[in-house]
Amino acid sequence: MPDVSLFRYAVAPMLDWTDRHCRYFHRLLSRRAWLYTEMIPTPAILHGEVSRLLAFNEVEHPVALQIGGSHPRECAVAAKAAARFGYDEININCGCPSDRVQVGRFGACLMATPEGVADCVKAMRDAATLPVSVKHRIGIDDRTEYGFVRDFVGTVAAAGCRLFIVHARPAILKGLSPKENRDIPPLDYEKVYRLQRDFPSLFFMLNGGIDRWETLEDVAATLTKINPASGVMVGRWAYHDPYHLAQIDSRLFHDTTPPPSRRDILEALKHYAEKEKARGAVPRHIARHVLGLYLGEKNARLFRQCLSSHELLAADDPAIFDQAAARVLS
Ligand SMILES: Cc1cc2nc3c(=O)[nH]c(=O)nc-3n(C[C@H](O)[C@H](O)[C@H](O)COP(=O)(O)O)c2cc1C
Repeated sequence: MPDVSLFRYAVAPMLDWTDRHCRYFHRLLSRRAWLYTEMIPTPAILHGEVSRLLAFNEVEHPVALQIGGSHPRECAVAAKAAARFGYDEININCGCPSDRVQVGRFGACLMATPEGVADCVKAMRDAATLPVSVKHRIGIDDRTEYGFVRDFVGTVAAAGCRLFIVHARPAILKGLSPKENRDIPPLDYEKVYRLQRDFPSLFFMLNGGIDRWETLEDVAATLTKINPASGVMVGRWAYHDPYHLAQIDSRLFHDTTPPPSRRDILEALKHYAEKEKARGAVPRHIARHVLGLYLGEKNARLFRQCLSSHELLAADDPAIFDQAAARVLS
């Protein structure tokens, strides 16, 4: 195994998925993983209910706020808010290809105007002291030559961004849905390795298609050889098979603390749900993120059925996590 003392493992920002309940659950599983919020558009931070949008649980640290925006002034306000709330990093989304996001002029289309992204980075760095990172693709539409992403990184780095999270496939802005855009253009990890080689003083995290231990360990070994402080970001694997997060600390970071059992996690979630009930959250809001906890285990189906049962969820009783654990033993 490579030396991973500086290496970073992160769970990707995922709209509608990585809300604060999901992040709390993921934190129960791993103490080392970095967590990212869902993308929050800057207009929502400017005009919305900020405390509801940005509040998070102290245990979530290290946690980064991902924003969608392209106006330096709005990004600066978001960075100030992120610092005030105590986030560990602010990340700007330059990777999402959805039409809605393009209308708002943020996401992957920003890769066409690196100077604009650099202005946002500069405005955020001037507004607050927290680290600024950029999540982007290796290209957009037919701009897939290496020089395109290299120049994007170079321009944005000149404005003071040190950390780049690279979804290792191009984004197709017209004709593919966001979902198709996560699978269809082929992955090209070599471009990310090349970026890390060409910019040795910057930090790169590789994202896209890491969905098993072999791939994770292979990418970690390759990247850490180039820069020990690089990293990986995992999206769908973390969400659909969350228990792999419980093994990250020991298997990837050589942590000797035994991982929590699935039963420990459910017990902790029950207590969390009891506390959250007082704040207006119902077990349904938490349970929906937990369906994959027993993936691949005996009775996983019964577990999922229990946690998604309308009848049981309607009772709004945190004991549903005990009931689900009992189903696994049945
Ligand atoms: C349901 C869903 C929502 C997503 N929302 C966001 C988002 O808000 N911001 C973002 O940068 N990427 C978003 N993504 C993309 C992921 O962060 C990640 O780049 C992508 O899933 C590829 O990684 P994976 O192959 O490990 O899943 C989303 C992905 C999924 C599946």
